[in-house]
Amino acid sequence: MSDEKDKVEAIRTVFTTEFERFADLSLDGTPLSDAEAMLRELGELKIKHTGKKSAIADAKKLIGKVAPEERGNFGQFVQSVEKEIVSSIESAETKLNEFITNAKIERERLDVTLPGRRPRTGHLHLITILRQKIEDIFVSMGYAIEDDREIETDYYNFDALNIPDGHPARESQDTFYTTDGFALRSQTSTVQIRAMERRGVPIRIIAPGKVFRRDTPDMTHVPMFHQIEGLCVDKGITMAHLKGTVTEWLKRLFGEDTITRFRPSYFPFTEPSAEFDFSCFKCHGTGKFEGERCRPCKGSGWIELGGSGMVHPNVLKACGVDPAVYSGFAFGFGLERMCALMYSLDDIRLMFENDVRFLEQFR
Ligand code: DAH
Repeated sequence: MSDEKDKVEAIRTVFTTEFERFADLSLDGTPLSDAEAMLRELGELKIKHTGKKSAIADAKKLIGKVAPEERGNFGQFVQSVEKEIVSSIESAETKLNEFITNAKIERERLDVTLPGRRPRTGHLHLITILRQKIEDIFVSMGYAIEDDREIETDYYNFDALNIPDGHPARESQDTFYTTDGFALRSQTSTVQIRAMERRGVPIRIIAPGKVFRRDTPDMTHVPMFHQIEGLCVDKGITMAHLKGTVTEWLKRLFGEDTITRFRPSYFPFTEPSAEFDFSCFKCHGTGKFEGERCRPCKGSGWIELGGSGMVHPNVLKACGVDPAVYSGFAFGFGLERMCALMYSLDDIRLMFENDVRFLEQFR
């Protein structure tokens, strides 16, 4: 019988060695995946040591073979070893299962009181926002919006606008030329011609768009910028209509108390011509803001915005319109300069550098 007992003793020793890493489990800080791997290994150990083909199952078969007087004793011994193996495995299993369940709960816990993550939404560029505001104002005044090409011929950019070859105005509006007689338009005034050719008269349009000049970028110049052009041609249109229209849209944009001023000037495509200014939106024309010299208007109380005038008879003629019957006014101004003034930007290049931290300020 001592042979059999030794065998059972050896089974217990093998188990104890293999089970050692599961005895006195301390799982604190164990990653969930490690605990799950341990549980799988423990499952294999369980089959090996308690399954039908386990050593202890074989040992049970010996019970019937020992001498009858020792059978009871031996039987009890085998059972106690089996019980020890089973309960060791079960208690490790319980520990691992509890740990895994808790770790999963912890991992999946949802704190419904946490503030949500706001998605970063895009928005329009400040030039676009201003352009759309101005478009809305003109649409409400019965104007149509004209969009036209950025690549033009000399004829539309200059000749048809009463700027013949050799005219000094060509110099100040030098642009980028292609090899086959085309050039990037240097002003949106080109759309006056295109729109009159297409729609005829009477006409009331504004034409927002990109223009190009051969300028080296600096704080106040960029080689591509935006203008809005206005054109109104009908029978009996006078300078009073021009002044009334410009005053009205500036009031709608900057407030009822905005006043406008027209200064005589020269443009080849208008006669007479005038530059128009409006009373500063910040100091309301006083030149002082919070006791200091007002910044946008440099203390003058006036902001110079754009050019205007009565459409030159030569321009009307170029579009097949009889200047003896029809007259009209036109005006044009740049959007970058306006934005720079409205938002106190020292450098207009900021608007094209696409730094989100800058752009986000103007929604
Ligand atoms: N095209 C002119 C420029 O780029 C602006 C301008 C002046 C447009 C007078 C006009 C106008 O329609 O009448 O400087």
